[in-house]
Amino acid sequence: MPDTAWQAKDLLTIRGLEKGQVELILDTAESFREVASRPIKKVPSLRGRTLLGLFFEPSTRTSSSFEIAAKRLSADWVSFSSASSSLAKGESLIDTARNLEAMAPDLVVVRHGHPGVPRMLAERLGCSVVNAGDGAHEHPTQALLDAFTIRRSKGRLEGLEVAIIGDIEHSRVARSNIHLLLLMGARVTVAGPRPMMPLGIEQMGVEVAFSTEDAVRDADVVMMLRLQLERHGATRFPSLREYFEVFALTEKRLAGAKDDVIILHPGPMNRGVEIASEVADGPYSVILEQVANGVAVRMAVLYLLTLRREEGE
Ligand code: CP
Repeated sequence: MPDTAWQAKDLLTIRGLEKGQVELILDTAESFREVASRPIKKVPSLRGRTLLGLFFEPSTRTSSSFEIAAKRLSADWVSFSSASSSLAKGESLIDTARNLEAMAPDLVVVRHGHPGVPRMLAERLGCSVVNAGDGAHEHPTQALLDAFTIRRSKGRLEGLEVAIIGDIEHSRVARSNIHLLLLMGARVTVAGPRPMMPLGIEQMGVEVAFSTEDAVRDADVVMMLRLQLERHGATRFPSLREYFEVFALTEKRLAGAKDDVIILHPGPMNRGVEIASEVADGPYSVILEQVANGVAVRMAVLYLLTLRREEGE
């Protein structure tokens, strides 16, 4: 079984992690990756442990890959949907969480539309909490699976040129990836329309470009982001057709990147808005590898946090 030299109770953000912690998660994920190719896709590592998934926002990839990860580790996975719970009868989030904790889960995975909800729960619950995406704040396991995918393809993260393009302002994926990639020694350029570029983003240590062509030039990795219309208060761009004309990743725009560039997208993808189908399905795309790798990375996170070594042990 992999090393369990992990001490932190929770995984709430990438910001604040150390390089060694990221390497431990990625190396542990590497050792779990082959479970997917076994006829019986199960190891006994978390047998008898109870893991709880609380998803207050829609999710396809994250919720299902946490559930598959838990089941491949032989844990008992209980998923909780806000729509069919007593939250609909007015019970508060804290009371809901305390009642769920009374059933003694070992770990809670939470996605919520408001930034800071995973931290609020972590401060009140004795069990581990994993952030599965909180508003536009962070999505740490997405950044970890992106780093895992890049490292498997390029053999390293250090020294790579990574372009992150799209709706930067509303993207928890961008924020977590910027923290992680800079920590691991990559160089990051962000690009997008000015109304979707947070003021002062340079202070995070990234370069800023305002065209896809400029961001893609000589890139080793291009990460496209979804236009998050559901988080836009007012219109940020005249139309989706114009967004595609000006910012989308097309074969023509990709020509400026390195010959062995890889294309990532966290999903869900808006084909014909931020990315052309021939690029999403083309030879440089690793988008479905990201999804497959997400299971191994989440197995690593669930394993390390559930079996963590307490401080001073
Ligand atoms: N990448 C991601 O978070 O996808 P879901 O919203 O489908 O979980």
